[in-house]
Amino acid sequence: MTSKTILLTGGAGFIGQNLVHHLLRESPECKLIIIDSLTYAANPASLQAPIESGQITFVRGDISELSNVRAIFELHPIEEVAHLAAESHVDRSIRGPDAFVETNILGTYNLLKCALDHWRSRSCLDRARFLHVSTDEVFGDLGPEEPPFTESSPYKPSSPYSATKAASDHLARAFCKTYGLPVIVTNCSNNYGPYQHPEKLIPLMILHALEGTGLPIYGDGSNIRDWLYVEDHCRAIALALDKGTAGETYNIGGGMEKSNREVVGEVCDLIDMRFRQDPSLAQKYPNCPSSTGDTCQSLITFVGDRPGHDRRYAINMDFACRKLQFRPRETFATGLLQTVDWYLENEAWCRQAMSPEHSVWLANNYGSRTSSAPIPHVQGA
Ligand code: NAD
Ligand code: TYD
Repeated sequence: MTSKTILLTGGAGFIGQNLVHHLLRESPECKLIIIDSLTYAANPASLQAPIESGQITFVRGDISELSNVRAIFELHPIEEVAHLAAESHVDRSIRGPDAFVETNILGTYNLLKCALDHWRSRSCLDRARFLHVSTDEVFGDLGPEEPPFTESSPYKPSSPYSATKAASDHLARAFCKTYGLPVIVTNCSNNYGPYQHPEKLIPLMILHALEGTGLPIYGDGSNIRDWLYVEDHCRAIALALDKGTAGETYNIGGGMEKSNREVVGEVCDLIDMRFRQDPSLAQKYPNCPSSTGDTCQSLITFVGDRPGHDRRYAINMDFACRKLQFRPRETFATGLLQTVDWYLENEAWCRQAMSPEHSVWLANNYGSRTSSAPIPHVQGA
């Protein structure tokens, strides 16, 4: 990757933070500007050091406010956008879809519009890139025998989350076809790894197991997801920015289809194993069944199903493998072990993410959410 200025939206979220660290490591010559409104899902402590050293510039701002997005394009010579900011949790979208419409649709529209104006006025549309990070959930669900999603699978979203992501994908492609905005769309499968908010399946199960509380599996646990280790996803995003062709879509998966019951079972087995190997864990987590030689699987409980719950997602990533020379490096076993170890070692981060005072802490450290200019900066470069 050559030296360039990249605007990363949602850089304080799960994939965003991993992507920041990936780019700082692999492409230190790039200048990173981050815009993130710091919702409950953000826990940006890991960005503090690169912000303070001036390696990245962090702006607390809401992309659904046009003035915020316009200001950031005016202040910085942005050449590429990696757009990750979103409301991302299906269960929350069922309980309250408004924020999903505002951020995922209106926020994306604001970014597309400002990127187009900015790059047009500087006559650099041919060199610019707008990478829109989306999900395989836009394709709806698959039956057990159906072939995995390809880039031409029809859109059939089931939840308010996936419907708003589908709308934003359509807008992004329309800006490419109608106005010539150099858009690349990636549709990826379920990510897991460090910095994921404890409301999502894998971190929730790890933390509940350590606390000795129930492990709630929706329905009968036979729903299937294709699991992608987040660092592999970050490599795919960097490759798409570098080698991708404007107007193309790439499906990114981990090639690891697992039922939720299997995932939770493997999480439990790894925690049991770590407790056997390290007796100090029993003192640290006395309520975990593994601390007394029992198994975390004893905590599994089947609960009522999610409305509209998609049965199965699976990704055919042949095109991305061919065009981007992408291949996931982690298997589910190797990625999950790293994930369990990260949560065992980062208890403070997890407590912070779940604290009822989290939004107060964010406001004290990063300023309040902006509604209009001027945008407060936690200044980096
Ligand atoms: P996340 O919820 O962990 O992080 C989202 C980030 O966006 C947060 O830091 C949040 O503060 C920020 N944000 C939310 N609303 C905003 C707004 N209006 N303005 C500015 N910032 C805002 O999500 P994630 O898991 O890191 O997902 C990142 C992207 O990848 C999303 O677009 C999501 O749809 C997509 N995706 C995620 C997965 C997955 O498994 N996590 C899978 C497929 C696609
Ligand atoms: P989740 O991590 O919310 O991701 P997504 O809904 O985007 O796939 O959920 C992954 C799967 O795990 C999904 O089939 C729902 C299921 N699930 C549970 O069974 N129990 C839980 O507590 C959660 C959060 C999810």
